[in-house]
Amino acid sequence: MSLLFSPITIRSMTLPNRIVVPAMVTRLSGEDGFVNDDITNRYVRFAKGGAGLVVLEAMAVHSSKSGPLLRISGDEYIPGLRDLRRRMADAGPGKAAPQIIHFLKISRSGWRQKIEDLSQDDIHAIRDSYAAAATRCIAAGYDAVELHMAHAYTLSSFLSRLNKRRDGYGGSLENRLRLPVEVVSAVRAAVGDFPVGVRFDGEECIKGGYTVEEAKVIAWRLAQAGVDYVSISAGGKFEDAIPRQGEPLYPYTGYSGDRCMPGKTWPNGANRYLPAGIKTFLRQRGLATPVVATGKINTPELAEEVLSCGDADMIGMARPLLADPDWPRKVQAGRFDKVIRCCYANICKARDERFQTVACFLWPRGEIQAPESDDGVPPAWDGQLAVTADQGRVSLKWSPATDNEAVYGYDIWRAIEDSDFDRIDAIPAPVTAYHDMTAVSGIKYRYFVQAYDLAGNRSKASIVVQAVLK
Ligand SMILES: Cc1cc2nc3c(=O)[nH]c(=O)nc-3n(C[C@H](O)[C@H](O)[C@H](O)COP(=O)(O)O)c2cc1C
Repeated sequence: MSLLFSPITIRSMTLPNRIVVPAMVTRLSGEDGFVNDDITNRYVRFAKGGAGLVVLEAMAVHSSKSGPLLRISGDEYIPGLRDLRRRMADAGPGKAAPQIIHFLKISRSGWRQKIEDLSQDDIHAIRDSYAAAATRCIAAGYDAVELHMAHAYTLSSFLSRLNKRRDGYGGSLENRLRLPVEVVSAVRAAVGDFPVGVRFDGEECIKGGYTVEEAKVIAWRLAQAGVDYVSISAGGKFEDAIPRQGEPLYPYTGYSGDRCMPGKTWPNGANRYLPAGIKTFLRQRGLATPVVATGKINTPELAEEVLSCGDADMIGMARPLLADPDWPRKVQAGRFDKVIRCCYANICKARDERFQTVACFLWPRGEIQAPESDDGVPPAWDGQLAVTADQGRVSLKWSPATDNEAVYGYDIWRAIEDSDFDRIDAIPAPVTAYHDMTAVSGIKYRYFVQAYDLAGNRSKASIVVQAVLK
C-alpha cells in the first residue's frame, strides 16, 4: 500500500496525500506584490498536478521594499489571494497554505540590517505583522499558514546560534527562541483553530551554526507553543554567502546554499537525517506533530522509503515538481515513467538570484510555465548512439528524435560495470550530445539515451554503448 498517497490530517485540514510543494519563490509578481495571471497559472498548475499541499511562495508580512515578491502585508492583498485560492480549488483537491515571511533590509552596497539593530518596538511590530498576515490567510480562504523561520530571514536569524543580541532575545537557546515562540503564540491567538505550520532549518550548515541537536529542541518548543506541523529545511544563510560587486548578497551562494538546494553532486535524500532526528525526538516526547522532509527526494521509491522507515510524515518536492507539476498525478496512476525528471542543474536557483522569473532548465526555452500535454504518442527515433572516450571524459552523440508535438528532451542513463542503470542526467532538446565528466579510467561504463515529449512519453531506448577511458 502506498503511504505517499494516503491522507494525513493536520488539525482541521486533511491532505489527500503526503506530497507537499514547499514554498518556491517564482519572481512572477511585480514589486507591487499583487497576485497576477502568471502567478495564478503557476499555482493552478501545481493544484492540478495533485500535490496534497501546495505552500505558496514566501510573501512579505511587512511593506519593506524588495525585488519581485508577493505580499500579504495589508488587506488590499486579500482579494487577489482569495481569487487564486478559488482557482486552485477548481483545479484539484489539494490544500493550500501561504508561507509568510519577514526579512530585514539589504542593499547593493553590501550593507545589510541585522537583528541586533532591531529595537523592542521593531520586534513587537514583527510579531504583530505575522499575526495580522495569518488572519489574512483565513480571510483569503486558505487551509493553513506556514511561518517562515528558515534560511537567512528574520526569525531564522533569531533562532541562529550566531544571534548576537545582548537582551532577552539573544544568547541562550531560550532567548533565541523567544521571538519565534512569541510569533507562534500571537498567530495562534489570532487564528484560533486554523492550522499553523513552521518551516525552519534542521541545521544551519554554517560554521558555529546550530545542528540537528538544537533543531530537535526548537521543534519541541515550537510544537508546545501550538505549531501543527514542522517543515525541515537546511542552510541558506547570509553568513557564508559569496558577495558579488554591486549585487545584494544572495543567501544561497555559499556552502549553506548548496545544502538548502542540493545540486547534482549531492546524494538523493541528502538532508533526510534532519527530519528523521527531529521526528524521533518529538515522538519520544509524546508529540505527534507531523514532520515534512525535503531535499532531493525525487522518486516514488525514495519517497515511500522515507515515509515507511519513519524519517518523515510528508515529502516536500520543490524542484522535481517545478520540473513536472504532474508528478503526483502521474505517479498515482503508476506512470512514473512519464514524469519529466529534475536534473538539479539549479538554473531555477540562479534565476531566483537574479530576480528573473523562476523557470526550469528543462522547460522549452523562454517558457514561464511547465508545458502541458495529454498526448499519448511517444517520440520516434532510430535509437543510434555514438560514444567516444578521450580527453578524460566520455562523450555521447545521437541524431534528433521526432515527435507529433515536440521532442522535449533526452534522459541519460548509465551503468557502472555490471550494476543496474541509473538515470544520471537530462538534456533539453534540441541538444543531441552529452559529456560525462565523472567517468574515470579502468572502469567500464555503459550508457543509453531515451527521448521524451511534452507529455513525458518516452521513446524506445537507444542502443546501449560501452566506454572505458584510457
Ligand atoms: C527557486 C527556488 C525558490 C525557493 N524559494 C523558497 C521560499 O520562498 N521559501 C522556502 O522556504 N524555501 C524556498 N526554496 C527551497 C525549497 O522549498 C526546497 O527546500 C529546496 O529546493 C530543496 O528541495 P528540493 O530538492 O525538493 O528542490 C526555494 C527553492 C528554489 C529552487
